[in-house]
Amino acid sequence: MTVLLVVHHTPSPPTRELLEAVLAGAADPGIEGVTVRSVPALGATVPDVLEADGYLFGTSANFGYMSGALKHFFDTTYYTCLDAVAGRPYGLWVHGNNDTAGAATAVQKIATGWGLEKAAAGLEVTAVDKAARDACYELGGTLAATLMG
Ligand SMILES: Cc1cc2nc3c(=O)[nH]c(=O)nc-3n(C[C@H](O)[C@H](O)[C@H](O)COP(=O)(O)O)c2cc1C
Repeated sequence: MTVLLVVHHTPSPPTRELLEAVLAGAADPGIEGVTVRSVPALGATVPDVLEADGYLFGTSANFGYMSGALKHFFDTTYYTCLDAVAGRPYGLWVHGNNDTAGAATAVQKIATGWGLEKAAAGLEVTAVDKAARDACYELGGTLAATLMG
């Protein structure tokens, strides 16, 4: 079984819209053989990471960084999973009001530390509109399609 793990912090209805668009894209009818596991960042564990073949990380921007929830996820999985996940594909999305750059950079640095391969450009959203939902759908579809190989 090929698994795409979606680890997200989704604190509000607008961010929920983005998550649902990502998940819809990952479940596009053109995708076959990829199981999508969506897990809130505060509940995601080392086994979730080890048992997945690729990753999508979603977060709000908070104080110029990723959310405390997603940071907690990385704090509790990073060293245990180091060396076990290198080469696997990943993508990320960040939602904020006006400045998402620090959050996106922080997630990318950790993904680089893990040796993950960026499979899509990081998506930074400041307005939850159709364009943002479409971009999230494409992000989910791109990661799932990458795992179809
Ligand atoms: C404590 C706090 C810090 C925040 N810091 C940032 C920030 O640094 N950059 C940014 O773009 N948005 C920031 N935001 C906005 C959140 O990213 C935004 O509220 C979150 O993505 C949920 O979106 P919503 O408020 O539209 O539902 C912050 C929000 C809070 C509550």
